[in-house]
Amino acid sequence: MKVMAICAGRKNGNGEILAKEALLGAQAMGAEVEMINLFDFNILPCTGCEACTMQMGEIAMDPTKTYKGCVLKEKDDVEALVAELHTCDGVIFSVPTYDLMPSSMYTRFCQRFLAHELSFLLEIGVVDHNPHTVAGLIAVGGSMHDWQTLALESLQASMFTMSLTVVDRMMAQRVGRPANILLHPDQLERAHKMGENIVKAIQTPVEERGWLGDPNDGVCPVCHSSLVYPGDPHWDGVEFPYECAVCGCGGELGTNPETGRPMLIVDPENGRIRDRNNDKARAEHLNEIIQTRIGFFQKQGEIQDDLKKYRELKFPTFKIER
Ligand SMILES: Cc1cc2nc3c(=O)[nH]c(=O)nc-3n(C[C@H](O)[C@H](O)[C@H](O)COP(=O)(O)O)c2cc1C
Repeated sequence: MKVMAICAGRKNGNGEILAKEALLGAQAMGAEVEMINLFDFNILPCTGCEACTMQMGEIAMDPTKTYKGCVLKEKDDVEALVAELHTCDGVIFSVPTYDLMPSSMYTRFCQRFLAHELSFLLEIGVVDHNPHTVAGLIAVGGSMHDWQTLALESLQASMFTMSLTVVDRMMAQRVGRPANILLHPDQLERAHKMGENIVKAIQTPVEERGWLGDPNDGVCPVCHSSLVYPGDPHWDGVEFPYECAVCGCGGELGTNPETGRPMLIVDPENGRIRDRNNDKARAEHLNEIIQTRIGFFQKQGEIQDDLKKYRELKFPTFKIER
């Protein structure tokens, strides 16, 4: 049983301290632990080339083709980090909040996972099983929830492509300067608890695993995100009155009987057909990508003149001579 903490904050900063405390919790429960800081690695940004999903689409049509993965895989450290992550049963992310969201050090890392999207790779037969790795999320900010509104939700949103199941999350608040967290023993204690929760989840059979964080956290009863919006039609016409911005579950807005606060009442019949926590439901998104691409290729001939116009259209630009 191995638990890894992945930090994206300053060396000896609040995120590292919280991650260490969480690992102490996991270690006390018998886990082997390790910790990395993303600043120690060379992580190139995703170029958006779509080579990964193009290959996936081709293999979906012809399973004899081989999957080569990300075009950057020999150019930086991400492939080694993904391999290391695959040796773990649980992962704790500790990420600073910048401008309400996870910092770019983290987003640069997580956006490299499209080439490793497990539900897509399962769907096309490139991998044969889901290791069901669990995750705990720590957002670390100088403010309270009002200035970290997209932090945990954005972290959660990135977990689907990373194919990790979130079982606990916490928001460290009002910690600005490095080590400020040491003035908040309650928050450190909460991080310790997260480490314990991660081990509890690992020790629970996959089908019995559930949410181990605050039961009343968030508005969505499925993923516990705080972001629910009035739904719009999906590409194939599916539409919900309200939809969780993170996991995609749909239903009506109601009231949490425990807290009296608003909550999403997930439609018992079809509210989970787009639940991104579910490999099959998520793999439907690969179908969407493939269908959009087929539609484009079929009509590509119609846009050649317009394409030429925009290619040739040049505006003054700014360049730094090196
Ligand atoms: C560029 C920048 C933007 C920030 N934006 C926010 C913010 O929107 N909300 C917030 O709560 N804290 C914000 N902070 C504060 C950091 O989240 C805080 O210092 C945190 O403790 C950093 O974590 P670390 O010590 O692990 O590096 C920001 C800090 C920086 C440098």
